[in-house]
Amino acid sequence: MLDVLGNLERTHSCGELREQNVGERVVLMGWVAKKRDFGVFTFIDLRDREGITQVVVSSETAAEAHAKAKSIRGEFVIAVKGAVVSRAEGTHNSKLATGDIEVKVEELLILNDAAVPPFQLEVAGSENLAAEDTRLKYRYLDLRRPQLQHNIRMRAKAVKAIREYFDGRGFIEIETPILLKSTPEGARDFIVPSRIHTGKFFALPQSPQILKQITMIAGFDKYYQIARCFRDEDLRADRQPEFTQLDMEMSFVNREQVYREMEGMFNHVLKLIDVDLPAEWPRMTYAEAMRRYGSDKPDLRFGMELNDLSAVLKGTDFAPFADNFEKGGEIKCIVAKGKADYSRKQLDELQEFVKRYGAGAMAWIKIGDELTSSLLKVLGEAKITELAAVAGAEKGDAVLIVAGKKSVVAASLGALRNEIARRENLIDRSKYECLIVTEFPMFEHDDETDTYIAAHHPFTSPMDEDLEMFKTAVNDSSQHHLLGNVRAKAYDAVINGYECAGGSIRIHQKDVQALNFKALGMSPESARSQFGFFLDALEYGTPPHGGFAAGIERTCMILVGTENIRDVMAFPKTASAQDLMMDSPGVVDPSQLDELGISVNEED
Ligand code: AMO
Repeated sequence: MLDVLGNLERTHSCGELREQNVGERVVLMGWVAKKRDFGVFTFIDLRDREGITQVVVSSETAAEAHAKAKSIRGEFVIAVKGAVVSRAEGTHNSKLATGDIEVKVEELLILNDAAVPPFQLEVAGSENLAAEDTRLKYRYLDLRRPQLQHNIRMRAKAVKAIREYFDGRGFIEIETPILLKSTPEGARDFIVPSRIHTGKFFALPQSPQILKQITMIAGFDKYYQIARCFRDEDLRADRQPEFTQLDMEMSFVNREQVYREMEGMFNHVLKLIDVDLPAEWPRMTYAEAMRRYGSDKPDLRFGMELNDLSAVLKGTDFAPFADNFEKGGEIKCIVAKGKADYSRKQLDELQEFVKRYGAGAMAWIKIGDELTSSLLKVLGEAKITELAAVAGAEKGDAVLIVAGKKSVVAASLGALRNEIARRENLIDRSKYECLIVTEFPMFEHDDETDTYIAAHHPFTSPMDEDLEMFKTAVNDSSQHHLLGNVRAKAYDAVINGYECAGGSIRIHQKDVQALNFKALGMSPESARSQFGFFLDALEYGTPPHGGFAAGIERTCMILVGTENIRDVMAFPKTASAQDLMMDSPGVVDPSQLDELGISVNEED
């Protein structure tokens, strides 16, 4: 039999009572986190979102409550009425904020029972958690864990701090629609069929990019929004198909002015965890970041920069290296400090690791008691010694070397740098290192189709210095390859190796915009059919403008110190883009499809 709540009211949360409350009569409500029976006494750890309070029920002073307590199990919902007492000498619990007291129960109400949870909620250490799929299926139970409660509340605080920041700076919050037309951000769209206009579709926004630019054309000057974005792309540990951005845009600004807002916002948000980032963040061009770290989002909490060995190896007759130079490739390395004791097996593993990033192989030098190297036979001891010196390696170190195309060398050594830092525990988790990466390339070359695609998105402005080169590359087909050299006024905010925000100064002149569509291989007709409304809008007095969008989840991952994006989302999707709790995506009723004029090809 369940009790009714009636008009009983809570007096305190389960995280609130302290020594000074001793003697007060209180009412607490929550979930049974743990129950222990000791004959006359039953002890219950009562949990709500604020914490845990131990309550004790005695058969001698509260026989009825004690009898009820016998029947309750974990996760039952109960209310207790009683007096706050000091814990007996030697039973204080320093791990609990309420550990100096307990509540001596006079009355106990069972407000609801609970099935036995499919996994244990309270475990010591995240490594002992139940399988993530099980926890995602029963997300409401997993969310009861204090860690997730903390994360989700931190997220709410972060969003509040962001609103505080932009409201205080004269930005206007404007909502843009979810049912939209395609907004290209480089992923596939999620599309929504229209019933009224059979055969036509809305696209969910990959970001509110075009609309925020239109708010600038409309004269709002400073816009922001906490915006839902949808991208049908391959998922990674820090990506979800549906996520949230702080999206902002401002008129009449240069890049530095946008950086200031980016710094200001992140600095304000990181105060939530008492981290003071520098007022002005370090800046680094994309080219420098790639050269030194092999990554456009370098983690600056550790060194291990890439070293170029090309100068020492040019002219070698070792065929693989010579061929590589012939093809315009390079040879670089990183130094793993103190790792001259890497075993053959470990080196093989690292070689397999870099192969995932396109490298053909990984050569190595170990400076142990003697000099050993996979290249010793082909290059000779003198050259190996010279290479080690150029790499800046010392006795005890290992040098890991990759040859190949520039982009492959950067990607594989950049990833290897992070991997070694992770394996060898080189990252000081108490550190927060931020930077703004600037001057991204405007285009990426797609080797498969031999076309150029927008590196950021098609509305990003080229650098003033590169505008002429851009125009030449688009208008003169023999100079098309120059697109690969055009730099954009695009930038990212990076914290601890995570790309937390990205943005750019936009193209505000219609002719340049049309040229950019052309550069991306769009015919004037196709540009008009996709973006005609935007090209029209650009005709009517568009101010120079720019902005950025920050990933709310990425930012919260930094705030709570997790590497799993699902830890900062209440209802995330799995790595294969499913919601295990609601079991979606799911099939829909055939009549619904009929109404939409859609038939599903089952064979596919
Ligand atoms: P961009 O595509 O760089 O820029 O996205 C901005 C920020 O959003 C976050 N982010 C994601 N977070 C979780 N899951 C994803 N799948 C995901 N994709 C992106 C990242 C990223 O830095 N319209 C432009 C912004 C602009 O130019 O103003 C845009 O969306 O933290």
